[in-house]
Amino acid sequence: MWRWEGFLHALAAEAVTLGEGNTPLLPAPSLGLGDVWIKDESRNPTWSFKDRLGSGAVTMAKRFGAKVVVSSSSGNAGAAAAAYAAKAGLPCVVFTVTSSAGPLVLQMRAYGAMLVKVIDRMDRWRLQTLGVRELGWYPTSPFFGPVVGSNPYGMEGYKTIAYEVAEAFDWQPPDWCVLPVCYGDALYGMWKGFEELKALGWIDRTPRFVAAEVSGSLVAAMEGGDAMPPESPRNAPSIATSIGALQGTVQGLDVLRRSNGAAVTVGDDELRRWVLTLAAKEGLWPEASSAAPFAAIERLRAQGTIKPHERCVALMTAAGMKDPGPIEQALPEPPIVQGGLPELMDALKNSYGFTDG
Ligand SMILES: Cc1ncc(COP(=O)(O)O)c(C=O)c1O
Repeated sequence: MWRWEGFLHALAAEAVTLGEGNTPLLPAPSLGLGDVWIKDESRNPTWSFKDRLGSGAVTMAKRFGAKVVVSSSSGNAGAAAAAYAAKAGLPCVVFTVTSSAGPLVLQMRAYGAMLVKVIDRMDRWRLQTLGVRELGWYPTSPFFGPVVGSNPYGMEGYKTIAYEVAEAFDWQPPDWCVLPVCYGDALYGMWKGFEELKALGWIDRTPRFVAAEVSGSLVAAMEGGDAMPPESPRNAPSIATSIGALQGTVQGLDVLRRSNGAAVTVGDDELRRWVLTLAAKEGLWPEASSAAPFAAIERLRAQGTIKPHERCVALMTAAGMKDPGPIEQALPEPPIVQGGLPELMDALKNSYGFTDG
C-alpha cells in the first residue's frame, strides 16, 4: 500500500506496515454476472481490507506519540487495530459486545489486544470516549454517533484500492464499484481515490458506486431524498455481522449521490447462496458480509440498472475463515466411508449428488 506514499499522509519509511495492499483483481466469469472482477482483500495480513485502515491509522498513532491504541469493533477493524498496534509496539484496547465470538474475537486476542466486553452496546463508545478524552488513547474506530466515519488517516488507506484497480485496468476505470457497506469508510476512500486520479488526469471518468447493505438505511435515504440515513431496525440479526449497523452514514450516502450510484439491501438467503457460489465456482471463500456485492450486482443487472456491457468490480472485503458458522450449516455433512470403491461412489452420490461419468 505504501508504494502510493505520494498520495498518503506519511512516508513508506515511517509506516507501520505488514505488507498490506496490492491484492489480486480476479475475473469471475463463472458467476453468471457478466463482466465482474473481484478485488480480493482477504489476502491482506489479517485477512481483511481493514488492514489498509489499520496501517494508515496506527502509522499516525506512532507519529503523534500515542501511548495506547483503542478501537470499538465486533471483528475486522479490531483485528487490524490489534495487529498493527502489535507491530508498532503499542498496547491496544478493543471494546466489543458480549455476543461477539468465534475466530474474529480470537484473532484480536491472539495479537495481544486487551479485549473488553460490554453488555450495553453504547458502553463501548462511552468507555472509548473516556479513554480518548481523559487518557489520550488513539482511536482507530468511531466512538460517538451518529457515525461520520472511522479514523480519517485510516480511511485514506482505502484510496489505494482505487489506485490499484485503475492501474490493473490500464487506467480505464470500471463502470461500477460494488462494496459491502457499514460506515461507508471504504466506499468513501475508494471514491476519493478515483476522484484524485481524475483530477490528476490519469483517468478520464470515475465509476459509479453501489452500497450493498443489510439494514436498508441507505436504500431508504436514496429513495426518500433524506439528508441523513434513517435508523432501519431489522426483525432478526443478519449473518453478515460485520456490516450489521442499523444506520448508514452521511459520507456513504454522499458518495452514492455524487457518483450517481445505488444502494441495495441484501438478505441472509442470498448471502449464503453467494458465499457458497464464490467458493465452489471461483475458489474464493468470503465472509458472509463480503458476499453482499454479488447479491447486489445480481439484482441491479436484473433490473437493468447495471447494463449488460458494463464492467463491475466487487470488493471482497474479508475471508470466510473469519466467521465460518453460517456457512458450515449450509454445507452437506461429510460421509464416513469404510470399504472400497462401490461404497465410496455411493457415499459421493448420496452426500454430494456426484456420479463419475
Ligand atoms: C468484512 C467487512 N466488510 C465490510 C465492512 C464495511 O465497512 P465500511 O463500510 O465501514 O467500510 C466491514 C466493517 O464494517 C467488514 O468487516
